[in-house]
Amino acid sequence: MSSLRPETRAVHLPQPEPNGSRPISVPIYQTSGFVFDDPAVFADGMGRHDGAYVYGRLSNPTVRSLEEAVAGLEGGVAAVATGSGMGAINSVLLALLQPGDHVIAQAPLYGGTAHMLADLTARFGVEVDYVPEADPAAARAALRPSTKLLYLETIANPMTQVADLPGMCAVAREAGIVTVVDNTFASPVLCRPIEHGADIVVHSATKYMSGHTDVIGGIAVFASAELHRRVWAYATDLGATADPFAAWLTLRGLQTLPLRMERHCSNTRQLATRLAGHPAVAAVHWPGLPSHPSYELAAKLMPDFGGVFSFDVAGGRAAGEAFMRRVRLALLAPSLGGVETLILHPATTSHRSVSAAGLAAAGIGEGTIRVSVGIEHAEDLWADFEQALGHTA
Ligand SMILES: Cc1ncc(COP(=O)(O)O)c(C=O)c1O
Repeated sequence: MSSLRPETRAVHLPQPEPNGSRPISVPIYQTSGFVFDDPAVFADGMGRHDGAYVYGRLSNPTVRSLEEAVAGLEGGVAAVATGSGMGAINSVLLALLQPGDHVIAQAPLYGGTAHMLADLTARFGVEVDYVPEADPAAARAALRPSTKLLYLETIANPMTQVADLPGMCAVAREAGIVTVVDNTFASPVLCRPIEHGADIVVHSATKYMSGHTDVIGGIAVFASAELHRRVWAYATDLGATADPFAAWLTLRGLQTLPLRMERHCSNTRQLATRLAGHPAVAAVHWPGLPSHPSYELAAKLMPDFGGVFSFDVAGGRAAGEAFMRRVRLALLAPSLGGVETLILHPATTSHRSVSAAGLAAAGIGEGTIRVSVGIEHAEDLWADFEQALGHTA
């Protein structure tokens, strides 16, 4: 090195080598590619998910660490981390569907996914039938010879209906089609859909998994190596795979996921229960309340009921807007699953593209407010909600 000129030495930096110890936390491998001593190992690593690391779009050690961690938590054999939740969903749909294929999807469905399915219908003739999330008979009746995929969500947005995963997955299994479950709202702490018969689990890692409202990320977890290979090959060609820094932030969040979920759920129980008894509230929608249509199913599938709920302020739109203007601690913002409590008005934001009839069918009213409950002290949150509700009449 000492014989080289400064220009060359500045480019070829010394590389740290393990010297009898190793880092406690997973390092960020912020590199786009990897150096080889052996050209044969380089050649072998190309186009393989389990070969040597070659190029960051195909694989990266920080990203691999996240994939292995989440595959382990979900009970899958492998995972593909992506640049967003939609990156994971689209990688799965585009890798597995052909023009003319038929998909059975649950209604309600996350808007981004429904939008993508509509696009696949318009451009590639993929046909989609929607069935209720907990109606295996309806799913069975919708089957066609061309059906390739059943698409479910563990807990739906924003009314928090819970899918009958065992019942719905059994229909798909009998028919020999692939079941994909979006497990974003439950996280693997509350539900592991592969245990109930799902083939692929997708997440917006933007939400609970990273948990600190500072990452956009996604991940797809696979029950079989064959499905993993197909989706990995497509996602890498599509360029949907995750960046090491986002993967590192997600890994860091993952370490506290069980602790955070515990607090999200207990805070939600307190808020939902108290709101249900408040005179300015017309209805509360959370599967942990016996009044929710999914209560019994949720109690069978999950140890707790999640950190998102919705409620209808008595007095409709004007009262809902008054509440949203008055809250101080809860932040009026998109997204969910972070440490901060966030609220939004589905009818004018997340579900603005849904028709009035669609909103009514989903039970989303003019005064419905969705809450993603954070990990603050429950009493501070309640004080904030109570003062804000005091001004809605
Ligand atoms: C249930 C669900 N799935 C998928 C997504 C898409 O995730 P991302 O925004 O990370 O692409 C979201 C985003 O809100 C979501 O709520």
